[in-house]
Amino acid sequence: MAPILEVKHLSAGYAPEEPPVLREVSLSLEPGERVALLGPNGAGKSTLLLACVGLLPLSGGEVWLEGRRVDLKKRRELDRLRQDVGLVFQNPDDQLIAPTVEGEAAFGPRNLGLPPEEVKARADRALASCGLEGCRRRSPHQLSGGEKKRAALAGVLAMEPRVLLMDEPAAGLDPEGQGRLEEALDRLRQEGIAVLLSTHDVDFVWRWADRAAVLLEGRLAALDVPEKIFAQSGALPGWNFPTPMVYWIGKKLGLSPLPRSREELERRWK
Ligand SMILES: Nc1ncnc2c1ncn2[C@@H]1O[C@H](COP(=O)(O)OP(=O)(O)O)[C@@H](O)[C@H]1O
Ligand SMILES: [Mg+2]
Repeated sequence: MAPILEVKHLSAGYAPEEPPVLREVSLSLEPGERVALLGPNGAGKSTLLLACVGLLPLSGGEVWLEGRRVDLKKRRELDRLRQDVGLVFQNPDDQLIAPTVEGEAAFGPRNLGLPPEEVKARADRALASCGLEGCRRRSPHQLSGGEKKRAALAGVLAMEPRVLLMDEPAAGLDPEGQGRLEEALDRLRQEGIAVLLSTHDVDFVWRWADRAAVLLEGRLAALDVPEKIFAQSGALPGWNFPTPMVYWIGKKLGLSPLPRSREELERRWK
């Protein structure tokens, strides 16, 4: 089976006269796969996510969707890419445009020219999967940080993408907001949507990701299953990242396979 999304030797930047920020990054996502993007500030995580959906001019490389190269210069191919691959920005204020939460969820499907009943059905589903039914008629600007983030996610989900890119979705959320975000991500898994997200939370990466990628100075420094990534903690030249707590305890206790969550660790410990 072809990957749902693949980038090959992607190079991109913000100023054509300067060397590209993102350098020759290759990465693929299988349908339903969950990949975490790690890396220090300025490593190029946001740049990679923007480049994946053609929001930055490429200085090299290709984007492939379901085994076909996307010609980013052709409007129709770009539209199709952005329909199948949804990007949730780090700051929801960059994304939210409608006067109400339900308007936000309906915006994309309406723009696709779908019939009103389909627009409503999609918006309802997206709001439900983000736990936002209670704030349908509120203005996005009156929402809490966590609700805003989920409203931005609902707007993207209503497009029914097959791949979701999320830029630091958990940043700035309190524990309850993070829990709700993870619940929404779990529902996406059941729907078979592939997710690539950037994060600094290694504990989350350990319990959630199928694979993890590490970006350093615009290059892909590592891409592997989390077991392998965290086995080399501190050993990547140029970056020290912490070891996930549950991974560390599991190792100390000699558990095999290693537990992925605190709940699993508790069960196995007894
Ligand atoms: N809008 C921009 N214009 C010019 N340079 C930028 C812009 N956004 C990011 N950069 C530069 O690109 C590099 C990578 O940034 P970014 O992709 O935001 O990193 P990350 O998301 O990993 O923190 C940094 O050196 C940053 O200064
Ligand atoms: Mg960033």
